[in-house]
Amino acid sequence: MDERKVRSLSQAKATFYEPGFDELLRSSLATGRLRFSTSMADAAGSEVHFICVGTPQKHGEYAADLRFVQAAAESLLRVLEPGDVVVGKSTVPVGTAAGLATMFGEKVPGSSVAWNPEFLREGFAVRDTLYPDRLVYGVSEGDERVVGILDEVYARIVARGTPKVVTDHATAEMVKTAANSFLATKISFINAMAELCEATGADVKQLADAIGYDDRIGRKFLNAGLGFGGGCLPKDIRAFMARAGELGADQALTFLREVDNINMRRRIRMVELAREVCDGSLLGKRIAVLGAAFKPDSDDIRDSPALNVAAQLQLQGAVVRVTDPAAVENGRRLFPQLDYADTPEEAADRADAVLVLTEWKQYRQLDPVDFGRVVAQRRVLDGRNALDRDAWTAAGWSYRALGRRAG
Ligand code: UDX
Repeated sequence: MDERKVRSLSQAKATFYEPGFDELLRSSLATGRLRFSTSMADAAGSEVHFICVGTPQKHGEYAADLRFVQAAAESLLRVLEPGDVVVGKSTVPVGTAAGLATMFGEKVPGSSVAWNPEFLREGFAVRDTLYPDRLVYGVSEGDERVVGILDEVYARIVARGTPKVVTDHATAEMVKTAANSFLATKISFINAMAELCEATGADVKQLADAIGYDDRIGRKFLNAGLGFGGGCLPKDIRAFMARAGELGADQALTFLREVDNINMRRRIRMVELAREVCDGSLLGKRIAVLGAAFKPDSDDIRDSPALNVAAQLQLQGAVVRVTDPAAVENGRRLFPQLDYADTPEEAADRADAVLVLTEWKQYRQLDPVDFGRVVAQRRVLDGRNALDRDAWTAAGWSYRALGRRAG
């Protein structure tokens, strides 16, 4: 629908930051087998139609907003022919696919609906798409024809022996939200441990390493810090809770409310920690925030813990300068009240404290000795447990991190 995006993509330029994506776009456009258009009429004649639109959180409630999915489905009615397949990629509340299957079945007899969630991570989107861990096909019972068509679509991935789960619509929809809920739970688990570490003087990083050696637990997604943000995890666990409530199964997911709470508490704790290191008051203190994106290698600032903390610090009277290798422009648009800088040095000029809130490689590799020359006070808060504590303390910095003793 968005002319600007379609124009940009047609010129092989992504409208977002994603490593390796522009190259892939360029080579795919060069084959002549990829086109972008704002007109639904261009979809006529295609056999497989993917719905990939967003399902954001509704304003003022937890449920997912399905307007875009509905609109896409309705506009497909104009071009869909018997035998065509509609494939849903969007993350939707369980039951959505069955509803669409009924609608398409009535209006275009002989068409089919499949639900085929994707699990790509921002920053690794290209690799995750071309080399997924698994394929999930949610199809109507016995619809072998659709399974065959999806196998053709994913021929290379299937040929590689990638695990494939063929199931019903409801299970396929739930796989996505269950996976994201598990990941969110894992992060909040380690962040809850970080709270305890703060109370006991234990070290959450070593704790994560030690429990992570157990194969059953695994070290991945056990990085304690500011917690999860972005366009998926937060809204997906909320939509999952809302849907469970509608289905009368809300008890099953009450733990996700706690997962959400733990996650949000980390942001508050970070602001407190900043106040603590600034001698008990944020008023007029110059604070550098390194990182605006919700995670490194992305310019996505949706529900970004880093920007959330930056905004809170400013509201409490600090003079905040934010920098990010990719997300400054987006930050300016969403939080115009914050001050932005192009480089960490510029952001940290005469700073009373430096907060590293997104673990970009550039920030992990900062030389604490050189960097120490630009600040007024060598105080660093490592919001992602990503810095080399010994190197920073050796360079005269006071080092604080969530879930670890002061260094
Ligand atoms: C997530 C899922 O991983 C992906 O499978 C799904 O398709 C979309 O949602 P994404 O939002 O790109 O992907 O980011 P992810 O890498 O999962 O990180 C989510 C958030 O958790 C980030 O804010 C990250 O900083 C945080 N995180 C991640 C932690 O705080 N600790 C960790 O150990 C890992």
